[in-house]
Amino acid sequence: MPIPSRVKLVEVGPRDGLQNEKQAVPAAVKIELVHRLQAAGLTEIEVTSFVSPKWVPQMADAAEVMAGITRRPGVRYSVLTPNLKGFEAALLTKPDEIVVFASASEAFSQKNINCSIAESIERFAPVVDAARAAGIYVRGAMSCTVGCPYEGDIAPERVSYLAGRMRGIGVQHVGVADTIGVGTPLKVQRAMEATLKHFNINDVSGHFHDTYGQALANTLICLQMGVWQFDASVAGLGGCPYAKGATGNVASEDVVYLLHGMGIETGIDLDKLIDAGQFISDFLGRSTQSRAGKALFNKRST
Ligand code: HMG
Ligand code: MG
Repeated sequence: MPIPSRVKLVEVGPRDGLQNEKQAVPAAVKIELVHRLQAAGLTEIEVTSFVSPKWVPQMADAAEVMAGITRRPGVRYSVLTPNLKGFEAALLTKPDEIVVFASASEAFSQKNINCSIAESIERFAPVVDAARAAGIYVRGAMSCTVGCPYEGDIAPERVSYLAGRMRGIGVQHVGVADTIGVGTPLKVQRAMEATLKHFNINDVSGHFHDTYGQALANTLICLQMGVWQFDASVAGLGGCPYAKGATGNVASEDVVYLLHGMGIETGIDLDKLIDAGQFISDFLGRSTQSRAGKALFNKRST
């Protein structure tokens, strides 16, 4: 499989990046972050989640954030919706895409969305139907496709099972997530191959947390398989509140540096992306988790 010449990055910083932040992040800061990301050339932005504010307080301002964004033509804005209640609230804010999120691990499903994998599929089915009837694209996120914080290693058969169920209810694209960042390339490859039994190469993406520093290697092996869509989070922000110990997603700046260095187009202006990362890191009062972002930022002042 030839390495793709162009890659689409889905920026998940405003959602995955901020959902686990303990300090309050005002809606205005989230909106400004989205504006900076789109100014940097990101055309796919996962903005927020319509989830229970009791479960994830940081996303309680989902509607306000969606309403505050000055939308840029050509940019697609997605939101997470765990159930019909979330979908109905999301619909009012006119997302281009919704994300239903399930887990390959039974224990993580219970911790994250308070139901079994089978129940989650039953719950998503009417959400998918309603979204597609409204002309909204449906993406599925599959958590714990290589490892689970509660169950340990996850076999590829379980990923294949989940991908099949997602496909069966009409999900149009699935992201293969290493939620806790334990995966290494061959394990990730097997999870991706299991997914490709049910989805076309053009309908899958990688979503790698970087806890063990493997996310770029995992990205590379997927590129070698022909995967051309990846989620990433500016400044390496992120983590799921129900995946203890997991750190952020792979930093968008690092992925862009890797891709541009390999001659792969992204349409993203790395300098402006670094500025967006600096903006949110300054607000949070800590330095960026992006290695390339840090190196290139420091180089500016020399
Ligand atoms: P539940 O408690 O079982 O829900 O939670 P319920 O249906 O029994 O309702 C309980 C209460 O929640 C009710 O309110 C509902 O109205 C309310 P009350 O009567 O008590 O006042 N409620 C809602 N409120 C707002 N929006 C909603 C909603 N639904 C119910 N949509 C539920 C089930 C799914 C809601 C809950 O478990 C939840 O919100 N979980 C979200 C967890 C989450 O957001 N996790 C992070 C995102 S996933 C992720 O990060 C992984 C990913 O990045 C990929 C990877 O890395 O693996 C995507
Ligand atoms: Mg995630």
